[in-house]
Amino acid sequence: MKPVYYENGKLVMIDQTLLPGEKILREYDDYRDIIDAIKTMIVRGAPAIGVSAAYAVCFAAKELAGRIEDPGLFLDALDQAAEEIKAARPTAVNLMWAADRMTAAARSHSDMTPEEITAMLKLEADDVCDEDIKMCRAIGRNGAELIEPDSTILTHCNAGALATADYGTALGVVRAAYEQGKVKRVYADETRPLLQGARLTAYELHEDGIPVTLITDNMAGWMMKQKRIDCVVVGADRIAANGDTANKIGTYSVAVLARHHGLPMYIAAPGSTVDLSTAAGDDITIEERDHSEVFGFGGVRTAPEDIDAENPAFDVTPHELITAIITEKGVVYPPFDQNLKKLFTTDMSVVN
Ligand code: MRU
Repeated sequence: MKPVYYENGKLVMIDQTLLPGEKILREYDDYRDIIDAIKTMIVRGAPAIGVSAAYAVCFAAKELAGRIEDPGLFLDALDQAAEEIKAARPTAVNLMWAADRMTAAARSHSDMTPEEITAMLKLEADDVCDEDIKMCRAIGRNGAELIEPDSTILTHCNAGALATADYGTALGVVRAAYEQGKVKRVYADETRPLLQGARLTAYELHEDGIPVTLITDNMAGWMMKQKRIDCVVVGADRIAANGDTANKIGTYSVAVLARHHGLPMYIAAPGSTVDLSTAAGDDITIEERDHSEVFGFGGVRTAPEDIDAENPAFDVTPHELITAIITEKGVVYPPFDQNLKKLFTTDMSVVN
């Protein structure tokens, strides 16, 4: 299931705000509309946002090349558009990583005309997309090694095909382990306030015939206490240099519960989510979303009028609570500061 792909000159997205009730495809060829799609979460999930950002830079380049002939002025204007794209959401670093990769590619070809740079950028965005699928497959292979036979896995939010170019990170591990006959069942936290677990994770797994049981977020501890869960596998929006990991709000609570019950807490994420320039979790900007998301769901208000709410979209799980980080290059164990650096400073090439 590909949530975002390029076809016939347009970027096509499954509108994830409508799933699973309706599967509506939306088409984009203006980078400003892609920014809106990221903000409104028509596309969401760190790697899928990164892929969308890469193509958004392409559309910006095409528009700018139509009116700016001078390569220097063109590159400056492209940088400005990329900054607008990067500001769409603050936490998932894949967005910044992809936009920066695109502008760096453009600048490394400053001898070309704007039209030539635009053509080259389309190929670069295709690479971002294709590499993401390869990385998810490799994460799946590496993570499956950690899953014991007959496991019940808890996951939070959606780190599946819908959150990536295809296959998924946390659900990539689930899919690969399931193919090896190791997964008995997946417990999916519903993930308030936007219900990515109920609407997206349960939907994807059910479509694939992988046994899934939906629970509300506040049931996870009780399921662990009753020994119904063997390990936790979640995705990530940004992994700091020391291993502190930002992911969907509620992940931290799950990690605390996993530690209390002696369960492994695995993070599954590609190198594009590892941000060695951010030292620790305290340095990660946490997106605060509109409070209306907490007051109700689907346009139906469940809370009384005139009350206050909080709506941080992400939290940070401290590295001490993480058993291992599963990446396309291998499984990273503590000490994360040393081991992440070893794996991701020198060679960012993709594992096939
Ligand atoms: O707000 P969202 O739906 O974009 O948040 C998504 C998550 O937190 C995912 O768990 C994370 O991006 C990992 S996706 C492979």
